Amino acid sequence: MASSWLTPTRWLLVIFCLALSRRDLGPHAVEAARAFFVFGDSLVDNGNNNYLATTARADSPPYGIDYPTHMPTGRFSNGFNIPDFISQSLGSEPTLPYLSPELRGQTLLVGANFASAGIGILNDTGVQFVNIIRMYRQYEYFKEYQRRVSALIGQQRTKRLVNQALVLITVGGNDFVNNYYLVPFSARSRQYALPDYVKFLISEYRKLLMRLYDLGARRVLVTGTGPLGCVPAELAMRGGRNGQCAPELQRAATLFNPQLTQMLKQLNNEYRSDVFIAANTQLMNGDFISNPRAFGFVTSKVACCGQGPYNGLGLCTVASNLCPNRDQYAFWDPFHPSEKANGIIVQRMLTGSTEYMNPMNLSTIIALDSKLADHA
Ligand SMILES: *[C@@H]1O[C@H](CO)[C@@H](O)[C@H](O)[C@H]1NC(C)=O
Ligand SMILES: *[C@@H]1O[C@H](CO)[C@@H](O)[C@H](O)[C@H]1NC(C)=O
Repeated sequence: MASSWLTPTRWLLVIFCLALSRRDLGPHAVEAARAFFVFGDSLVDNGNNNYLATTARADSPPYGIDYPTHMPTGRFSNGFNIPDFISQSLGSEPTLPYLSPELRGQTLLVGANFASAGIGILNDTGVQFVNIIRMYRQYEYFKEYQRRVSALIGQQRTKRLVNQALVLITVGGNDFVNNYYLVPFSARSRQYALPDYVKFLISEYRKLLMRLYDLGARRVLVTGTGPLGCVPAELAMRGGRNGQCAPELQRAATLFNPQLTQMLKQLNNEYRSDVFIAANTQLMNGDFISNPRAFGFVTSKVACCGQGPYNGLGLCTVASNLCPNRDQYAFWDPFHPSEKANGIIVQRMLTGSTEYMNPMNLSTIIALDSKLADHA
């Protein structure tokens, strides 16, 4: 009978469930904040690939050795990665991988991480990893995410949550490393001279960013590539004598990054708003790569975990060399920065001059957008 629906026992049940869902919010989420969404590749994957049948994964030791749990999480780092430090600066819990079963209920409101190691701007990048979430699929999941949140808080509030969110997208490095330069005479390198390939990538990336805007993103940090030729893997495979960075990959990054910044400026002009923020990760990484000691590193050439010259060959596994103090190494594995280096990168994002963050840094964004949100 309708009148007996809320018996005392049922009331207790309701209260208990409310308490549970509040607990799900986590310590910061109640007043929190701004949602955070992450798209891209292994530099920002928080563990989606753990749920996929792919070789591109970081789910075994010593990955995660310095993470609070000291367990591998799927992050390509000894500890925190770039999105983690950004979440901290927003006062939020780390974003969960979209494929994580823990990402449900109120936890969805913190945001989500859609990134997948191995992917690129192009669909044909990372084909050797077989089962990875390419950019278009990441967007399909983002749409699904929005449907799920709408069911929770309604369409209007969901739209506002997405419009007011901070978004990070990191993609492009693999289009060189795991496509154009993957093998000598790769299909793409036979199709395009490097400058034309870069133009093609920029035009495809532009479409991806416009799509992201259409999906509701209004504040997007867009990183360029790092100095691709200076990572331990490239030093080992194609570096010059005395550890000089691999010239072809350096040329690729030097062509790509300024054109990316230019393209973002044009998009902002079209949208008449500073939607896209160019994060000059080539410069951010370049600082500690060229002057490691100034940042407390003993080396920026040798990876902490790996084998062969510069510990740059093969994968980081439990059988690899492992440095005792990860904070003294700029690179954790043959391709990815250490936790310490990730922290330095995000510090630059927060407070860097316009050379690092264009048109403005993350502290400015946070201050500006919180004012806008107050008036909303
Ligand atoms: C990549 O794949 C998506 C979805 O399958 C498709 O819509 C898009 O046009 C493709 N991009 C290119 C450049 O082929
Ligand atoms: C970046 O952030 C700092 C605050 O940490 C601020 O003083 C500075 O003016 C900002 N720079 C730019 C170019 O916005």
